[in-house]
Amino acid sequence: MAHVVTVLAFTGLTGTARAADNVRIGLMLPYSGTFADLGKNITNGFKLAIAEKGGKIAGRDVEFVTLDDESDPAKANENANKLIKRDKVDVLVGTVHSGVALTMARVARSAGIPMIIPNAGADELTGALCAPNIFRTSFSNWQAGYGVGALMAQKHKSAVALAWKYAAGDEQTAGFKEAFEKGGGKVLKHLTLPFPNTEFQPLLTEIASIKPEAAYTFVAGAAQVKLAKDYHAAGLRSRIPLYGAFITEGTLQAQGESAQGLLTVLHYADGLETPRNKSFIESYKKAYGGATPDVFAVQGYDAAQLYLVGLEAVEGDTSKRKEMLKAMENAKLDSPRGPLSFSKSHNPVQDMYIREARGNQNVMVGVAVKQLVDPSPECKMQ
Ligand code: PHB
Repeated sequence: MAHVVTVLAFTGLTGTARAADNVRIGLMLPYSGTFADLGKNITNGFKLAIAEKGGKIAGRDVEFVTLDDESDPAKANENANKLIKRDKVDVLVGTVHSGVALTMARVARSAGIPMIIPNAGADELTGALCAPNIFRTSFSNWQAGYGVGALMAQKHKSAVALAWKYAAGDEQTAGFKEAFEKGGGKVLKHLTLPFPNTEFQPLLTEIASIKPEAAYTFVAGAAQVKLAKDYHAAGLRSRIPLYGAFITEGTLQAQGESAQGLLTVLHYADGLETPRNKSFIESYKKAYGGATPDVFAVQGYDAAQLYLVGLEAVEGDTSKRKEMLKAMENAKLDSPRGPLSFSKSHNPVQDMYIREARGNQNVMVGVAVKQLVDPSPECKMQ
């Protein structure tokens, strides 16, 4: 019993007992550290989609079990097992950090429990590790890098990459390099620093001395605020334009002048002028005290939309797992980013928008790649 009370206290629920017929959703996300805001916004987006359905899934009440994964791969195995074995969640939703998500996916695969990834881009998740029960509503790292490379190739002949040294940085840079070099550009150097370090100064000095036409970067969360500011303060902005997928996402207010005018490529833009996006933004603002949603909120929202499709197809009966997964596989979601479907490997097929940072908005100014599909050659779906 002590354990049940812990769960209730932890999730902030006020009830005194867990009803056996609740749908239990395990949210394993970063609620502290560099990625804390990403975890919060994913959670907000997820809960909003459920709230829009009257707070129920296929007529069943919903219970959230949240767990702070601290973006720490070393704790991922124990944390994922806790949610599945101790808390008996019906679905595992997470996470942001690629390294943590890779371990979660191994645990979810062997337990056979549905897993929905609302951010982590690790290529393997919908590649070698793909499985009928694993879905992603965000992007693959390859996709995120490829979109930026496609844009940069239209404008520049040489570039330097600066990225965190872990799966997300390595794989996004590889996707960037592939598109940039295919378009005639040359990557002169790939500079790295360990996650989640933010000592950019020596690397900026190196970029200045290499003198590429442009720079590509992947760092994320709180670190991208510091990078944009350091880059600006070093006087590099006007000489060597800086690009990335995430560098301005959700942080424009904190970045101030340093991010204005930056061009990025991502599968969402808060400035997307569609009725669907506008109503989503309105609904999100209303639910969360005026806060503007970002790509992370959208990915969380779509994770819930996808789960809703699955559970509604089996009228809430989670024991009909095969039928539920089939419905999720064939889902066509009305996402704020635009119509969203999934590839054979369960990765989003999506347009990659060109955005320009203006004021506190990433304004959509074009499309870098239409309906970009991750080729996922390693995926052998059982
Ligand atoms: C990742 O680790 O896959 C990751 C983290 C933060 C991002 C994007 C990708 O903004």
